[in-house]
Amino acid sequence: MSSNRIATLTIDGITTEFPMVDGNIGPSVIDIRALYAKTGAFTFDPGFMSTASCKSSITYIDGDKGELLYRGYPIEQLAEHCDFMEVCYLLKKGELPNAAQKGAWVKSIKEQTMVHEQITRFMQGFRRDSHPMAVLVGLVGALSAFYHDSLDINDPEHRLLAATRLIGKMPTIVAMSYKYSMGEPQMYPRNSLDYSSNFMHMMFGTPCENYEPNPVLARALDRILILHADHEQNASTSTVRLAGSSGANPFACIAAGIACLWGPAHGGANEACLKMLEEIGDVSRVPEFIKRAKDKSDPFKLMGFGHRVYKNFDPRAKLMRVTCHEVLNELGLNNDPLFKLALELERIALEDEYFIEKKLYPNVDFYSGIVQKALGIPTQLFTGIFAMARTIGWIAQWHEMIGDPDQKIGRPRQLYTGSMRRDVPSMDQRK
Ligand code: CMC
Repeated sequence: MSSNRIATLTIDGITTEFPMVDGNIGPSVIDIRALYAKTGAFTFDPGFMSTASCKSSITYIDGDKGELLYRGYPIEQLAEHCDFMEVCYLLKKGELPNAAQKGAWVKSIKEQTMVHEQITRFMQGFRRDSHPMAVLVGLVGALSAFYHDSLDINDPEHRLLAATRLIGKMPTIVAMSYKYSMGEPQMYPRNSLDYSSNFMHMMFGTPCENYEPNPVLARALDRILILHADHEQNASTSTVRLAGSSGANPFACIAAGIACLWGPAHGGANEACLKMLEEIGDVSRVPEFIKRAKDKSDPFKLMGFGHRVYKNFDPRAKLMRVTCHEVLNELGLNNDPLFKLALELERIALEDEYFIEKKLYPNVDFYSGIVQKALGIPTQLFTGIFAMARTIGWIAQWHEMIGDPDQKIGRPRQLYTGSMRRDVPSMDQRK
C-alpha cells in the first residue's frame, strides 16, 4: 500500500510534502489528509473528478481498457460461469463459495424472502400510480421500523442478518410494488425456485394459475443482476457510504442509495433510454436526435451513452448486447424494431466525430431496457431491478466501510462564494 514516492506542493513559495499511496492496480493516490493542517487550503473537486473517497478491495474498473473486476474476477467470466447468488457471496465475503458454502448462503437468503405482513398494509398507503422507486425508497427505509433486532451496526451478527434480509426481501418488495400498481394480489415467494426464477414468479404469477418461469429468461435476468451488482464508488454507492458514515442503520443507508440511483444520470438511465428509443421511433429519425445530443443549447443527451469512468467501452454493455440477442431469439422477436433501432443508433453514434472525440460509448443501460422490456418488465420498474441487483454492492461497500479503521464521518468542505459578514437591516431598510 504505502509507497516511497512523495508529492510536493508549493504555495506562495512554501513547499510541503505529501505521501503517495499505491493500490494493487490502478492510479496511485496522494494522501492529502494533512493538507489543511499543513497549508490552510482545501482541494476543490466538484463531482470527485480526481478524488478517491476511500480504499476498497471489492471492485476494480479500468476505464481505458474497459475492464471490470469483482474481487479480481473479470465480469465476463462471472457472467458465464456463476449465478447471482455466487456473485453476492463473492462481493460480500471476498471469495467464491464452494458447493457447501453456496448451499448455506442460498438457504440463509431464502429464509428471508418473506416480508413482515404489515408491510403490505404500509404499502397500501401509496397511490396505485406511484413510481416504483418512490415505493422502494419508502418501503426499504421502513424496514428499519420492522426489524429492530438487526440495527446495531457494531454487532457483526446484526450486520449479517440485515444483509441477508435486504438481499432476500428486495425481490419481494420490487415485485410487490408492481403487483400493487396493477391491482393484482401480491404473490408470496416460492423458495423452491432460484433467486431470479422466484422473482419472475412473484412478478408474473397469479394465484389462479401455475406459473413456470422460462429458464432462458430467468438466466437472462440473473445476468442483468450480475452485471449491475457493484460498480465501485459510483454516486449511489458513495451515497450509501456517506449515509453510513454517520452510523445510520443499513436499511436507512440502502434507502438513501435507492434515492440516488433513481436519477436519470445514474440508474434511471435505463428507463430514460427506452423512452428515448420509443420517442425516436424510427431509424430515419436517428440523425435528428444525434444532432440534438450534440447541440449545447439543447439539454437532450443520448441516454445510455457515456460514462464517467469507461472511456473505451463498457464491458457490461457488450455482455448485455449478447443477452439481448439471446432473449429476443428465445421469444422469437429477432426483428424487434426497438432492438434494430438501438443497433442503428449505436452504429451511427460510434461513427460520429462528436462521440468519438468525447469517448462516448454505449453503457450498460443502453441494452438492459430492451432486455427487460422483452422479459415483460414494465419500463417504470427498470430502475427498481437495478436497485435489486445493486443492493449486494451497497451492502458489501457499507460493510467494508464499517470495518475500516480509517473510516470517519463524511464531511466535505466548500469554497464559499456568498456574502461577506453583514448586519441584519431593519424591515424599512430592506429593498
Ligand atoms: N449525449 C451527449 N453528450 C454527452 C453525453 C451523452 N449521453 N454524455 C456526455 N456528453 C458530453 C457532455 O455534454 C460533455 O460535453 P462538453 O465536454 O462539451 O461539456 C462531455 O460529453 C463529458 O460529459 P460529462 O457529462 O461531463 O461526463 P460525466 O463523467 O460527468 O458524466 C454521464 C457521465 C454518464 C453522467 C453522462 O455521460 C450522461 O449523462 N450520460 C447519459 C445518461 C446515462 O446513460 N447514464 C448511465 C450511466 S451508466 C449506469 C450507471 O452507472 O448508473
